Amino acid sequence: MSDAALQRRALLTGTGAYLPEQIVSNADMTARVDTSDEWIAERTGIKQRHFAAPHESATFMGAAAGRAALAAAGLAPEALGAIIVGTSTPDNAFPSTAVQIQAALGAKKAFGFDLSAACSGFIYGLSVADAMIRAGQVDSVLVIGSEVYSRILNFADRGTCVLFGDGAGAALLQARDVPADGAGVLSTHLHADGTLGDILYVDGATGLRDKPAHLVMNGREVFRHAVSLLAGAVTEALTANGLTAADIDFLVPHQANKRIIDGVGKKLGLPPERVIVTVDRHANTSAASIPLALHAAITDGRIKPGALVLLEALGGGLTWGSALIRL
Ligand code: ACO
Repeated sequence: MSDAALQRRALLTGTGAYLPEQIVSNADMTARVDTSDEWIAERTGIKQRHFAAPHESATFMGAAAGRAALAAAGLAPEALGAIIVGTSTPDNAFPSTAVQIQAALGAKKAFGFDLSAACSGFIYGLSVADAMIRAGQVDSVLVIGSEVYSRILNFADRGTCVLFGDGAGAALLQARDVPADGAGVLSTHLHADGTLGDILYVDGATGLRDKPAHLVMNGREVFRHAVSLLAGAVTEALTANGLTAADIDFLVPHQANKRIIDGVGKKLGLPPERVIVTVDRHANTSAASIPLALHAAITDGRIKPGALVLLEALGGGLTWGSALIRL
């Protein structure tokens, strides 16, 4: 094949994850709030979540996940081109989590920045990384989602505090020249509707020590919008690539709620074994949820090289989007 038939793409060459040591079961939550394992499990599919210890910050967890992704791909930190971190819970307003992770990894050549898109942070980050790689600006980008929602949860609000957990996931994207039917990020589609900002938000900045910021959510309204907006975003990804749901090997959805995941899976007509679910173990880890789920399914051998994988997420903003990747 001549070089002209090849195109520069962003290939997913490694993933990594970090979960805090402390596991908090639904039964453990009943000691803290008026709830039950049945209520949480029936409505959300969540059985447990991880909560970070004081040292397990967004930087600490993100660096651990990023280090693992680099190791999986066999790329030295010194060779990395950029770091993008999706987070709503940075350690500091600045320096960014990305730059603190750059220091922790010794990724001296990499530039980096944080990206605020709530639970869509990983897909937004993937989209930016893909564009930068296709444009020839960088050859490798570490896209990380790292979140410590336990620090912004209102434990007086049982309707929200049982839904979230902490953790970090990372994916390394590297430039490669591949044929049109080869591997890589095939497309990303991003959306936002700021007029719906009041149905899911954090009521301040995390740096305000005299007024701790808390997550506020109208769960019914989020649920009402989630399935239709997500189904629209995945259909958009399929249409743009001339594919149908039957072509998809795995759906790796944002892990907010099993009922939302099932709703999108049903709309696509995908059997449950082709939908990756980790919400039972991790709860909703916001921007970290997709890379954590992707990493879990790659390391347990379900997602193999060559697989066509569809990602989707929706989060505060509202923000939402989809990405199609061939491994
Ligand atoms: N334990 C026990 N009872 C509870 C709890 C709890 N943790 N939380 C609320 N309840 C009670 C309420 O007080 C209410 O009682 P009442 O009828 O006596 O007043 C009852 O349960 C029903 O409350 P609703 O809030 O109406 O419960 P709903 O059936 O809507 O379920 C839920 C709530 C699970 C949040 C649902 O709305 C949902 O799944 N929404 C999607 C939101 C979501 O997943 N957000 C994640 C972040 S966004 C994202 O990442 C996409």
